[in-house]
Amino acid sequence: MNDNNKRLLDAYIEKINDQLIKLTENKPQLQRAVVDAMEYSLTAGGKRLRPVLMLEFYRMCGGERLDDIVKLACSVELIHTYSLIHDDLPCMDNDDYRRGKSSCHKAFGEDIALLAGDALNTLAFEVIAESAIEGVIPPERAVMLTSVLAKAIGTDGMIGGQVIDLETEDEEISIETLNTLQSCKTGALIEAACVMGVVISGRMELIPAAADYAAAMGRAFQIVDDILDVTGTFEELGKPIGSDEQQHKNTYVTLLGLERSKQIAAQLTVQSLAALRGFENNEFMYELTQDLLERRS
Ligand code: IPE
Ligand code: IPE
Ligand code: MG
Ligand code: MG
Ligand code: MG
Repeated sequence: MNDNNKRLLDAYIEKINDQLIKLTENKPQLQRAVVDAMEYSLTAGGKRLRPVLMLEFYRMCGGERLDDIVKLACSVELIHTYSLIHDDLPCMDNDDYRRGKSSCHKAFGEDIALLAGDALNTLAFEVIAESAIEGVIPPERAVMLTSVLAKAIGTDGMIGGQVIDLETEDEEISIETLNTLQSCKTGALIEAACVMGVVISGRMELIPAAADYAAAMGRAFQIVDDILDVTGTFEELGKPIGSDEQQHKNTYVTLLGLERSKQIAAQLTVQSLAALRGFENNEFMYELTQDLLERRS
């Protein structure tokens, strides 16, 4: 990534991180445990990819009030962090580390980790509603955002994907089923982030192009996640390596092998770049998308 784009990415991440801290400030003492757990997971790091996607799609659609919508962009990071807390629980992937620290349930216990995930989920929708109440976006757009996000993370989206992921452990599935699993589990929230950026800008005619981009990029992203589970190191990823094998997961690597997985991720990246053609100011997204293919964390 060139220096200019790197600076832009760092600036986005700083704004997102500042806003995330503000969202859990000033909560009462009695329920401090759950707020501490939320803060712990929110501030543990992470690439902040989903809020960056939302901000960038908004900007590529001509949106100019980036600072005003950082809070809205955090809604998808709140959801993502909730999903990671739950994903690591012993009843799910049973992983002890996340973002370079002990998993939320290791640090706070399963009960508080479960509730912290739940609270992050509801906070995301509170943030969207507030943005309309505070006049940042018109109420109809807040309703649309709520609908896009809720659908993406429900039974037809992220939660559905997690169910398929869990229920197909120990059995061999077809590539078609794996694709469905992936597009629900990971793709749906990534698509929501991109589409929400477009919705905030009001350029509804660009929703299909954003969805096309996200479908290809989201799949490439999960394939790389599966590859890194085999080829990465704990220091790079901040989460356990070999977790998929240990949990007998179906992944692109187990189904297709490392080399074929890399080829497909590269093809999908090219496909996602083509979907960016309909957007103005897309140079940053071009580079970010290419870098995601080569990522080590
Ligand atoms: C990890 O997501 C889980 C998947 C959906 C593959 P990220 O790789 O975006 O995790 P963070 O946010 O950077 O920790
Ligand atoms: C998780 O997928 C997707 C979520 C909905 C959180 P993974 O189980 O592959 O994510 P990691 O590898 O633990 O980050
Ligand atoms: Mg999982
Ligand atoms: Mg996992
Ligand atoms: Mg994984």
